[in-house]
Amino acid sequence: MSGHTNMTLVNENGIRVDGRAFNQHRPFKVNAGVLKNADGSAYVEIGKNKILAAVYGPRECHPRHLQNPNKAIIQCKYNMQAFSVSDRKRPGPDRRSIEISKIIAEALENVVLTELYPRTSIDVYIEVLQANAGTRCAGLTAAAVALADAGIPMKDIVSACAAGKADDVVILDLNKEEDNYGQADVPVAIIPSTDEIVLLQMDGNMTREEFDNAIKMAIGSCHELYDLQKEALKKRYEEKEEDESS
Ligand code: CDP
Repeated sequence: MSGHTNMTLVNENGIRVDGRAFNQHRPFKVNAGVLKNADGSAYVEIGKNKILAAVYGPRECHPRHLQNPNKAIIQCKYNMQAFSVSDRKRPGPDRRSIEISKIIAEALENVVLTELYPRTSIDVYIEVLQANAGTRCAGLTAAAVALADAGIPMKDIVSACAAGKADDVVILDLNKEEDNYGQADVPVAIIPSTDEIVLLQMDGNMTREEFDNAIKMAIGSCHELYDLQKEALKKRYEEKEEDESS
């Protein structure tokens, strides 16, 4: 997010570096139940991002001192594989992945009915296989599907998409160049049935009006993702029924 570059990110016709219009998101793909040994799982592609999410639980909580007698806790581990970026990423947790794990867990706490499973832990693993900006949103979108696939009671799923600003234009779903050289990045996650915002961050600067526009575009995109998330879960459910009847 430098905001300073000689690179044109949005040309005079309003076209972005990857050919998109200002209000266009990258292609989405969502699959549920992609891993056999996890209780629930999902695979998401958003543009060049490729992300796997696996869910285990509710299960015994480790470390035990984190147990809550009133509800389950959600423990999230967001991890970027060393090969997921063009410069090798140093393996293991860093400040960024700890922050992203925390905000994703907090977003999910808004929908999971944790009070049904006191003293337990619901463990959410997010593995970024290929990154191209927007991985926290794509990871959260995948995690929500994986939780539903695990059969964990939830009041709804969560859908996430970022918006931002580059070359003074408010744009939807920033890619890597736009994230690196643009002026602002605003990841947004919502509960689609109520439009309640469960994650909102901002890197860079925007006017109030630009910010309102960005939020509106991001929420619109979340609703499109929501349809795909539901479709993926429906497909998974139908496959399960077929397996059981054969
Ligand atoms: O991925 P997201 O936009 O949620 O988070 P970010 O911190 O704004 O990172 C933006 C992008 O920078 C990531 O998606 C990666 O493509 C890239 N990145 C990287 O190349 N190496 C890192 N160690 C961290 C991020």
